[in-house]
Amino acid sequence: MKKAPPRRRTPLFEVRHSPVHGYGVFAARRIRKGTTIIEYLGERVSHKKADARYEDKDPHDNHTFLFTVDAKTVIDAGVNGNEARYINHGCDPNCESTTMDRRIFIEAIRTIRPGEELSYDYQIQRDSDDPPNVDDVYACRCGARSCRGSMLEAAKKPPKTARRAPRKSSARNSAARKNAVPRTHAGNRTSRRGD
Ligand SMILES: C[S@@+](CC[C@H](N)C(=O)[O-])C[C@H]1O[C@@H](n2cnc3c(N)ncnc32)[C@H](O)[C@@H]1O
Ligand SMILES: [Zn+2]
Repeated sequence: MKKAPPRRRTPLFEVRHSPVHGYGVFAARRIRKGTTIIEYLGERVSHKKADARYEDKDPHDNHTFLFTVDAKTVIDAGVNGNEARYINHGCDPNCESTTMDRRIFIEAIRTIRPGEELSYDYQIQRDSDDPPNVDDVYACRCGARSCRGSMLEAAKKPPKTARRAPRKSSARNSAARKNAVPRTHAGNRTSRRGD
């Protein structure tokens, strides 16, 4: 008797246009909390090399496929990347990025319904010399009620007694200089093997 062909499960997700930005990744079926959905793949390069690749970009274009692994390594999903590069940022995300053995994985932090867009918090780092308009350049369009309006990590409140130092350069020049160094997504949890 002939064996029945193995049952193929619907893929976990699909890539399509997103109301948030460009392409996004959407659950194709229910994804349980704790599921490792996909590894963030791409070429592993030094920070120096990643910076060089994006140095000619328009200063108001925040788009990159870079993900910081650690002080040494950045993953550039623009080269040999997979669908993980299309996951948009969300301020009230249903996923998070985890680091295991210097590899980045995207994991569901709650049960996700079919059709829901996947997102994780990019937590893009702020710098002390950020121009005043940095939150406009990195404006978030996730649509969450709790949207903080920016893909950058939440701003730290200055101590009550501190005064703001005057800025030396104009916003425009400063923005251009900042963007010579591309911003990368930051990992938000480090797991040990077996976590
Ligand atoms: C890794 S890509 C995500 C995929 C992207 N939508 C695309 O089609 O290439 C990251 C870029 O998408 C855009 N993006 C992601 N989430 C966003 C959000 N919540 N609001 C505005 N832009 C977002 C930003 O330009 C960001 O640098
Ligand atoms: Zn948001």
